[in-house]
Amino acid sequence: MTKQSKKTPTPQISTKVIKGLAGRDLLSLAEFSSSEVQAVLDLAVAMKQNPANYDTTLKGKSCILLFEKPSLRTRISFEVGIAKLGGHCIYMDHSTQRLGQRESVHDYGKNLERWVSCIIPRVFEHVTLTKMAAASGVPVVNALCDMHHPCQALADLLTLRECRGTLRGIKVAYVGDGNNVCHSLMHGCVLTGANFIAITPKGFEPNPEIVKECRKIGETIGAQVTVTNSVDGVADCDAVYTDVWASMGTSQDEAGRRMKTFAKYQVNAALMARTGKETIFMHCLPAHRGIEVTDEVLDGPGSVVYQQAENRMWAQMALLALILKT
Ligand code: CP
Ligand code: NVA
Repeated sequence: MTKQSKKTPTPQISTKVIKGLAGRDLLSLAEFSSSEVQAVLDLAVAMKQNPANYDTTLKGKSCILLFEKPSLRTRISFEVGIAKLGGHCIYMDHSTQRLGQRESVHDYGKNLERWVSCIIPRVFEHVTLTKMAAASGVPVVNALCDMHHPCQALADLLTLRECRGTLRGIKVAYVGDGNNVCHSLMHGCVLTGANFIAITPKGFEPNPEIVKECRKIGETIGAQVTVTNSVDGVADCDAVYTDVWASMGTSQDEAGRRMKTFAKYQVNAALMARTGKETIFMHCLPAHRGIEVTDEVLDGPGSVVYQQAENRMWAQMALLALILKT
């Protein structure tokens, strides 16, 4: 069941923003302006309320998912969302052969643009996405790479807005590894006026260039970014967010080493109590139960993780409707 605040925003999207988004890629959320992110969220809300109004939005359009890594949420939410919009989706498994191995990423993009309206890759390296986007004339949407997970962040912002009524001025605490999910959530928060705090072990802070970029965006919008190694940082936050301590592609040895380093960053009842208020719990999933989060928190009344998973679909539907608009 969706946790919904009493305030439901009214969708209002300017023609200028709609025109500006048509044909765009989404590799990192920082490519979008504050109004563009807002437009995606507004349309997602409208689609979630009245999906039948949008059932021919992608009629005649095909999208391709090219995945080098496994997925449940991203794959299914794109496939079902595209079907709901009247479009067609192809899944191509690239888990046994990296993109660029059989033929160059450039040639891949040049071929695909002849058949499909949108390319949605999940890759190990961000550079694969930039090569694909440079080669192809159709939008490329990042379905996760080593540095970013922008579609996840759009769903997270939608969920935060549903739960808190607004994003402006709220405080989101991300606890754990300063990874792809952390980076995109940080972008999303500053673009929508939410304050963001990354709480990580020493040596696992988010990428300093991305922190710098977010602080710059935040200055123009009035949102703060803090990076700390102290779990006391969760005090007074509106949401506690965590992700796995070792992302896909991390070696078993490295994952094992991290267990000890990350132990005091586990999101458990004691950590949630440090917030000092009624705070929601968020996770992009998949979760490693009993590792980065306890069952008690993940299954507890403050957890909105399945709402986030559902919102992947609405947020991506809105994104595709806007960038594939002709
Ligand atoms: N959150 C997320 O991207 O999940 P999947 O890896 O299952 O797609
Ligand atoms: N940080 C995780 C996110 C999974 C959705 C990973 O990259 O594996």
